[in-house]
Amino acid sequence: MQQASELKSFFQAEQYAAVRKAVPKLLCDFGINYFNLLLKAGFMRNNDAQVEKSRVGYGIPFAETLLAQMTGVVGEVTGRQVLPTYSYTRVYFPGAEMKEHTDRESCEVSTTLTLGYNDQKPWPIYLTDLHGKEQELLLEQGDFLIFTGSKLPHWRNVWLTEPDHWQIQVFLHYVYADGPYKDNIYDGRPALCIPRKS
Ligand SMILES: [Fe+2]
Repeated sequence: MQQASELKSFFQAEQYAAVRKAVPKLLCDFGINYFNLLLKAGFMRNNDAQVEKSRVGYGIPFAETLLAQMTGVVGEVTGRQVLPTYSYTRVYFPGAEMKEHTDRESCEVSTTLTLGYNDQKPWPIYLTDLHGKEQELLLEQGDFLIFTGSKLPHWRNVWLTEPDHWQIQVFLHYVYADGPYKDNIYDGRPALCIPRKS
């Protein structure tokens, strides 16, 4: 991980920061194997409203554990204490597209972690920064982008790639412990790992 103080200054000025190699390769590879098993077993949903060419899961134990574990890193980079809300995992397939959007209140602080991909390079994510400038971010395995998801518009363009390619991202969401959405801790659930109501 880069110097925490540099990341914190950058985040506080720009409301986003990419923490390179935040999660080690062994754990990312474990995650790839874990989600591939869930895919084969039919446990990843295929009805995500935001991205058609994907398989997704809310609050899956591996991702919820990362959500709890990364709380300290997110607090260090943002410079404020944060509370975990929920995790979401998406396996992207060719032709996927994520339209420009901002996130809901439980994603006051959003993150996206690249577990892995089998293309030559990662499929980029874009955001519009506080100065109205488009930023392209290439997140390699283990790279962790922290950003104010409820404020900074972000998207991914149509993924034009070979038919057998995939990319797995884990999204870990937090709210500030002293902020207006602090009651959204665990996204309204009694604890992490519990499926969402409704
Ligand atoms: Fe988002």
